[in-house]
Amino acid sequence: MKEIKIESTLTVFDDFNELPKNIASLMEQAMEARLNAYAPYSQFLVGAAIALENGEVVTGSNQENASYPSGLCAERTAIYYAGAKYPGVAMKTMAIVAGSLKNKTTEPIPPCGACRQAIAEYEVKQEDSIELYFMGETGKVVKSNSLANLLPLVFDKSVL
Ligand code: THU
Repeated sequence: MKEIKIESTLTVFDDFNELPKNIASLMEQAMEARLNAYAPYSQFLVGAAIALENGEVVTGSNQENASYPSGLCAERTAIYYAGAKYPGVAMKTMAIVAGSLKNKTTEPIPPCGACRQAIAEYEVKQEDSIELYFMGETGKVVKSNSLANLLPLVFDKSVL
């Protein structure tokens, strides 16, 4: 018997203004996308923007449904759109911004487990990491160099 230790290193920026210019611009596009969220049930609005290797940016927002599980998170809306519109083009960076209409979200909001699994699929597919930056409406921004940092013991095609 032995124990294994799983460690991840993340970078924390004190606020949006500390971000490199190109990342701040991507985050602004996520903020803009967030305004298109359709979230009448949760009042929790999320926007995501993905910078692709070909210079394009694909955005998405959460889209809810009266049949709750039929709705989709912003990250998956964006990544499936990127996969559908630009098949074979690598995804470099994803910026995510999330916040509730009920109270101001000042802490970074990481992608949910299902979105981590979806992002992991594309990281494995392209054999290259996708950088992630996530934040609340204001405040700190967390950077992960790869989705793998957020999803240890990933389930991927290697086991199929
Ligand atoms: N949501 C996202 O868009 N991304 C996440 O990673 C977490 C949750 C959405 C789904 C739902 O519309 C609302 O936020 C509340 O869970």
